[in-house]
Amino acid sequence: MNILVTGGAGYIGSHTSKLLKKNGHVPIVFDNLSNGWAEWVKFGPFVFGDIRNEDALYQALKGFQVDAVIHFAAKAYVEESTRLPEEYFDNNVGGTIALLKAMKRAGTKRLVFSSSCATYGNAVTPAIGEDHPHEPTNPYGLSKWQCEQVIEAVAPVAGIHFAALRYFNVVGNDPDGEVFERHEPETHVLPNLMKAAETGAPFNLFGTDHPTRDGTAIRDYVYVMDLAEAHIRAIDVIQERPRLVSNVGRGEGTSVRELLTAVEAALQKKLNVQEHPSRPGDPPELVADAQFLRTWLAHDFKTVPQVVEDLVRLARARKG
Ligand SMILES: NC(=O)c1ccc[n+]([C@@H]2O[C@H](COP(=O)([O-])OP(=O)(O)OC[C@H]3O[C@@H](n4cnc5c(N)ncnc54)[C@H](O)[C@@H]3O)[C@@H](O)[C@H]2O)c1
Repeated sequence: MNILVTGGAGYIGSHTSKLLKKNGHVPIVFDNLSNGWAEWVKFGPFVFGDIRNEDALYQALKGFQVDAVIHFAAKAYVEESTRLPEEYFDNNVGGTIALLKAMKRAGTKRLVFSSSCATYGNAVTPAIGEDHPHEPTNPYGLSKWQCEQVIEAVAPVAGIHFAALRYFNVVGNDPDGEVFERHEPETHVLPNLMKAAETGAPFNLFGTDHPTRDGTAIRDYVYVMDLAEAHIRAIDVIQERPRLVSNVGRGEGTSVRELLTAVEAALQKKLNVQEHPSRPGDPPELVADAQFLRTWLAHDFKTVPQVVEDLVRLARARKG
């Protein structure tokens, strides 16, 4: 299949493009490089463009005879969204509306959308199921929830089958080292832990007074290649059914301190940790109820220690 991958020059998009190619598909990356890397577009053609440009999207969909779209492109910094909410609604919601219009015009029938556990807000149950209330605590999460609502309204009218995958925290790198997690600035905990270990710079630990087992935030970490697999499977699933809304998590929580300990143990090195207050809009604990996911995705997910081991192996290989 020819698959348009919006945001395919970014972290998850580039890993998914690699797996798409490996599975015999053609990933056509559509990205404005606002937060992506041209050198990661190496698994198929590149269209430089902005998802708010409906005509550019339409040309790409028609020109490449696209069978399905995986829509990763978004602004995705929680803290930034609290300072620039209007940018987040314009880019994320505006871009999704333009994409739906272009798909409707071009007759493209399948869409997999990157949603997020940030659409739920603070957990009111220990594990978050798909029917958990949606009360996002920051404009980023709200923009993703609004995108889902727009898709729910437009897709049936436009004859589009869709999947909305609500990922929990995505971690890890391509095992071959061809692409890897890289955000500017990097706010994600695992690459920052690895960087601190490699450079000796301090690791900034945000939030030590959360109501959790060790005071630090608990998240459900999903390995990026497992997530890529979920997207490819979702494209098949929505061939048969019009709507698939699912969490993508492992159903197990790991605290920041537990991650820190895992990295220190794998590297046999103590990190220089600097503690800071929690960041605004950061919920204490987000863990998926992954029961529904297991009904449509028969795939074993990597555990956090396995992901950490891989990262250490890749870091050692890079050093030679
Ligand atoms: N990383 C996570 O843990 C996580 C968790 C849940 C959901 N998500 C979602 O997954 C998606 C991908 O996340 P990521 O970590 O790979 O982010 P990323 O920033 O690495 O990638 C996003 C890509 O989208 C592109 N982009 C942004 N706005 C665009 C626009 N207007 N037009 C064209 N391209 C544009 C950027 O240039 C970048 O290449 C996002 O939608 C994010 O909200 C990520």
